[in-house]
Amino acid sequence: MQIIKSISELRTALQNRSHGRTVGLVPTMGNLHEGHLELAKHCRDRCDIVVASVFVNPKQFGEAEDFSDYPRTLEDDADLLAAAGTDYVFAPTDDAMYPGGHASATNISVTTLSSELCGEHRPGHFDGVATVVTKLFNIVMPDMAFFGEKDWQQLTILSRMVADLNMPIQVIGVPTVRAPDGLALSSRNQYLSEEERQQAPVLYRTLMDIVHALQAGATSFDRLEHTARVALRSAGFEVDYVSIRHADTLAPATEEDQHYRVLAAAHLGKARLIDNVGLDLR
Ligand code: PAF
Repeated sequence: MQIIKSISELRTALQNRSHGRTVGLVPTMGNLHEGHLELAKHCRDRCDIVVASVFVNPKQFGEAEDFSDYPRTLEDDADLLAAAGTDYVFAPTDDAMYPGGHASATNISVTTLSSELCGEHRPGHFDGVATVVTKLFNIVMPDMAFFGEKDWQQLTILSRMVADLNMPIQVIGVPTVRAPDGLALSSRNQYLSEEERQQAPVLYRTLMDIVHALQAGATSFDRLEHTARVALRSAGFEVDYVSIRHADTLAPATEEDQHYRVLAAAHLGKARLIDNVGLDLR
């Protein structure tokens, strides 16, 4: 496995190797856990060449967010990626990715989808994600790109972007990896104190309560969301949202829907946790 920091070096390496072979990209911000490695493993299974990017993208962090504290662990990440069968780790500097600064003129914005749910609480976040992922796509030119379902809204936005802009790339969602107690793995879980870590699985359990109610025929979406918010608050969370949506369009759920996604974001101490669960009624 090779670690490459320069855009031109990566392009040359891929041009030399990729004739007639499929290239898969696993975009990450590093500080890897089992969830990321699952993306790399799926990529390894389906593509001839596996590229993983490790880049903490300043453009997707708000001013009051954890950009400077975000854990940077490239050496450990590289070891884990090598063991997962990665061929290239692309780890550019901020200057290489944003030579003119990250407030550069061109932004990719998947408008409606980006301004609600997490987008309402993190203005500009998804434009930062869509812009950096477009740049990574243009640098790597992968056939397939792998993203975790834990970030369901991100996955939906990127799938929509690829379709709208006719990018010749297959976006593939990989199921969320969970701790045995249900907590979705996330780099931000390490901000939790020991006591908060004990409480954190309540987020997943609360989403599952909604799923079970929907399975049993409940259609009072507002009431289900309200009950979930109350449950989370009484467990110590500060809730950004709990929302039942159509799984593909992310439009608010209706009784006619067959595919639901129940999504939530809530703060527990210093950590902002997100999670979601799908339900197919057909
Ligand atoms: O999901 C992430 O880690 C990031 O949003 C991504 C896709 C790597 C873009 O910076």
